[in-house]
Amino acid sequence: MTDPDHILNISNLSKNFGGLSAINNCSLKIKRGSITGIIGPNGSGKSTLFNLIAGSLKPNKGSVVFNNEDITGQPSYNLFSKGILRTFQIAHEFKNLTVLENLMMVPPNQIGENILSALFMRKKFKLQEDKIRLKAYKVIEFLNLKHLANEIAGNLSGGQKKLLELGRTMMVDSKLVLLDEVGAGVNRTLLKGLGTAIQRLNKEKGYTFCMIEHDMDFISRMCDSIIVLSEGSVLFQGTSEEVKNNELVIESYLGRSNKKN
Ligand SMILES: Nc1ncnc2c1ncn2[C@@H]1O[C@H](COP(=O)(O)OP(=O)(O)OP(=O)(O)O)[C@@H](O)[C@H]1O
Ligand SMILES: [Mg+2]
Repeated sequence: MTDPDHILNISNLSKNFGGLSAINNCSLKIKRGSITGIIGPNGSGKSTLFNLIAGSLKPNKGSVVFNNEDITGQPSYNLFSKGILRTFQIAHEFKNLTVLENLMMVPPNQIGENILSALFMRKKFKLQEDKIRLKAYKVIEFLNLKHLANEIAGNLSGGQKKLLELGRTMMVDSKLVLLDEVGAGVNRTLLKGLGTAIQRLNKEKGYTFCMIEHDMDFISRMCDSIIVLSEGSVLFQGTSEEVKNNELVIESYLGRSNKKN
């Protein structure tokens, strides 16, 4: 059955690590075009859920439907080419390459990856490289990183690395972007820039975002809907106001002091 309103539909998903049930019969839906937040205590399964959606892990049970297609257990490179991109809790930059080169590494199926095409299709390869470089410059401009285009990525601050992670998602035709604690350890000024970039990508390019965060202020400002995970399944889903006032969420995650925020 097709469901045009939701880009992602997860049903009864489970993932065990030995005796530990990291994701436990979890069902949820992500609205197309939304910015949806995922919160929950440490170890509640947030990153594991992303790993299952993006193909880094295979579930023991359940299904993941993306754009009305069952993608359960597909490898990450397949999902990447369908437009599911993710950033990692710990940034995955190529430390010895520049910001520009890091972005240029992203696009899949580059001509020239294979030695024969590199030899016989030099001109075509050069044209494609120019196109990718131009695109990378556009991404750098969008993210206000122009002054850092030729900086070695290993020298960037934590926040700048997070921006670069977001930039990777802009090098291809992304549809669903999963951000794992993209705001963690990022200073106030950069966090604002990161937030603006996410909102612009959502509005101007139609990306659907799903973001794991611990910062309730940031997530309240950014998200239309927030999903609260607890022990591997959904405890509650609602607006930030509904989440902050829900007794179950307060007991299991936010604590009493957050209730009036
Ligand atoms: N590859 C793995 N092998 C074994 N156990 C794992 C693995 N990945 C995660 N776990 C366990 O699964 C549970 C959920 O972990 P996960 O990283 O998904 O939590 P999280 O909600 O992202 O936590 P945090 O807020 O600390 O990032 C934890 O108990 C964790 O130790
Ligand atoms: Mg995590």
